[in-house]
Amino acid sequence: MTDRSLRSLVDTALAALANGREQRGGPLPAATPRQVEQTVDAALGHATLPAEGIGDEAALADLVTAVAAGAADPTDPACTGHLHCPPLDVAVAADLVASALNQSLDSWDQAPAATVLEERVIETLGDLAGLPGAAGVITTGGTASTYTALLLARDAAPSPVRVYSSEIAHFSADRGAHLLGIGEVVKVPVDEQHRLDVPHLARLLADAPADSRPVVVATAGTTDFGSIDPLPALAALVRTHGGWLHVDAAYGGGLLFSDTHRDLLTGVELADTVSLDLHKLGWQPAAAGVLLARDPALFEPLARRAAYLNPVDDEDEGYTSLLGRSLRTTRRADVLKIAVTLRALGRRGLGEKVDACLRLAQYSAAAVRARVDLELVADPVLSTVVFRYAGPDGTADDQINGRLRRALLSSGQAVVGRTEHRGRVLLKLTLLNPDATEADVDRVLDLVVAAGRAELES
Ligand SMILES: Cc1ncc(COP(=O)(O)O)c(C=O)c1O
Repeated sequence: MTDRSLRSLVDTALAALANGREQRGGPLPAATPRQVEQTVDAALGHATLPAEGIGDEAALADLVTAVAAGAADPTDPACTGHLHCPPLDVAVAADLVASALNQSLDSWDQAPAATVLEERVIETLGDLAGLPGAAGVITTGGTASTYTALLLARDAAPSPVRVYSSEIAHFSADRGAHLLGIGEVVKVPVDEQHRLDVPHLARLLADAPADSRPVVVATAGTTDFGSIDPLPALAALVRTHGGWLHVDAAYGGGLLFSDTHRDLLTGVELADTVSLDLHKLGWQPAAAGVLLARDPALFEPLARRAAYLNPVDDEDEGYTSLLGRSLRTTRRADVLKIAVTLRALGRRGLGEKVDACLRLAQYSAAAVRARVDLELVADPVLSTVVFRYAGPDGTADDQINGRLRRALLSSGQAVVGRTEHRGRVLLKLTLLNPDATEADVDRVLDLVVAAGRAELES
């Protein structure tokens, strides 16, 4: 690789990206799944691995154009389906460098400066979360962070663990518990505000077998409702029972940057482990997950000695290895884009973006209420707005909601989220675009109403 060849290929890639975006002209391709498949196959020329290569420029131009034309584009304000953020240009630029440098954080001699940088970023995020002296690691996201946290909790003592979470916690807790062989997660109901019902959990813990250790996965920002479990009360309860508190702040963790909303996370500093995802309210290209553990010794179960990676005498001489922090061996320097972003925007810059998203959610809830065809299901806590299409006379059913959402997808006009709660199909705006405006939200809601009416009439 030379700087000149990279620069020219990046120019080609950016031109193809712009071309693909222009071809798409909206938040996602106006196409059925079959049509998307045909476009990708055509770009591949039906030869994903040709006998003879077609060359760098041609391969980049064809495929970048096709994938950009067929992308769900989180930079478009009508792309509101998921916790899928528009990445900051500065973070994308830093991420390109992470690829170009190809550092690997499993040993000092593959990533000298990046190893230091990851330690500094973890220290900073630990301080921000009120966990000074915490250890941590950059992960592939909330799923990996929660899995790792459950592993650390399981191995912290010999007695068996029993995992509890609210009934609307992210499924990664269930998957993690399953993979770790620690049984099914015990589901705790939520209250009217979609927060884990603490008295209910207290009764479950009182009745649990005496030799089991509770591991409570609290959510600070549920995927659908953005609700935040009562962290101080949960921490106190867990302490009484000698258990472990993991706070899944994959979504809500961004509030730590905001002077206005930081208080909603009070109690996170009482956790044993915390996950944050900066590819949600942190505007990083995926992946930028973070796991923090209050005490570095908690990472002990992951410690490994490999003669070719972290020999003792090297470590004794200060050649630090982060091998023992991660489930991965080869691990790219995702920390670079995070560190560059933290410095570029500062706490205030990031906090203002968080505030903008939460403000827009409040506006959106009012805009839903103002439309007779729509029914608001819950007041927003963070930046999601859960609602349904009820129709002019309130009789539109789940099927209509499902169909209208697919109609918006295949017309390429909007990506609206879909979920279910208490057996009903619901629609959702997930507002992670700090530059989106009230007019953008109005347009998406008008599209939902028009699509709903079209379905009712069809
Ligand atoms: C609350 C919560 N936890 C965990 C996750 C999983 O995060 P990731 O997709 O980064 O693995 C999500 C994803 O949306 C989430 O909303």
